[in-house]
Amino acid sequence: MGLDHNGASDLWGAGGRGARLSRSVSPTGSTRATWRSPRGSRCTSWWRYSNQRLAEEQRRLAAVEGRARQLEQRVARLRGALSDQYRFDRIIGEAPAFREALDQAARVAPAETTVLLTGESGTGKELVARAIHYASRRAEGPFVAVNCAALPETLIESELFGHERGAFTGADRLKRGRFELAAGGTLFLDEIGELAPAVQAKLLRVIQERQYERVGGTATLSAAVRLVTATNHDLEQAVVDGRFRGDLYYRLAVFRVHLPRLAGADGRCPHAGRPLSERVRGQDGTE
Ligand SMILES: Nc1ncnc2c1ncn2[C@@H]1O[C@H](COP(=O)(O)OP(=O)(O)OP(=O)(O)O)[C@@H](O)[C@H]1O
Ligand SMILES: [Mg+2]
Repeated sequence: MGLDHNGASDLWGAGGRGARLSRSVSPTGSTRATWRSPRGSRCTSWWRYSNQRLAEEQRRLAAVEGRARQLEQRVARLRGALSDQYRFDRIIGEAPAFREALDQAARVAPAETTVLLTGESGTGKELVARAIHYASRRAEGPFVAVNCAALPETLIESELFGHERGAFTGADRLKRGRFELAAGGTLFLDEIGELAPAVQAKLLRVIQERQYERVGGTATLSAAVRLVTATNHDLEQAVVDGRFRGDLYYRLAVFRVHLPRLAGADGRCPHAGRPLSERVRGQDGTE
């Protein structure tokens, strides 16, 4: 059956060839259809057909809404489990210097302040970064972690800022960067001392201007993230040695928390092998 807008057309089907259907659309968008057989009798089958379609659509919509509600509840449950898992008071360690460091981190968490976490490997920097996120106003948003040491210099820029399709050989589609994925939440840059000079310069610009472009892109995106960074290096020494930009260091170390080493009897961190975060991951397969 062909039907033009507000027009009439031949109708094939129950009424047979030669039947005419005219349709008009009211200003409110509702459709009024009149079906006439060649002998002049009117038929309401079109309306019944519409109602049936409408009922099917409503059933489908109700099923989709039900599924969306279930997913929302699931997300809320997992979010609750995560924020519970990463509460400051869940972090183990009674040493006064360690508790003092946690208190500092807990105090700065609700603010938007950029935080630099320092401390040896395994002292819980990532754990504290997550605790800061879940105790902040951004807790409902994403927590995105990037290990700057794990990515080669050629990849880190597009990993952080994303790239446009065709930006370079192999960039066959648009990629959103971690800044974009963390929008509304917290971006945790681990091993920040490993950043190459060119990326340090770009990061400084993003922090100063709160804006950036994807690699190969012209659109300006806003950096809607709270930044928490971590290092197990002596960054101040790296600044003195000229390996890390001083201006970037001062932007990152707005609030600095040093996590002291918690040595067990054997000299190792007593929490090694007790990954709290893995228990959370196990619930859903994802973080
Ligand atoms: N105080 C703590 N309480 C409970 N678990 C801890 C504590 N400190 C560390 N852990 C656990 O030990 C592991 C290492 O911690 P985390 O990754 O936070 O350390 P890190 O300081 O980021 O180390 P690295 O410098 O090697 O990245 C994690 O699984 C973490 O859950
Ligand atoms: Mg870490």
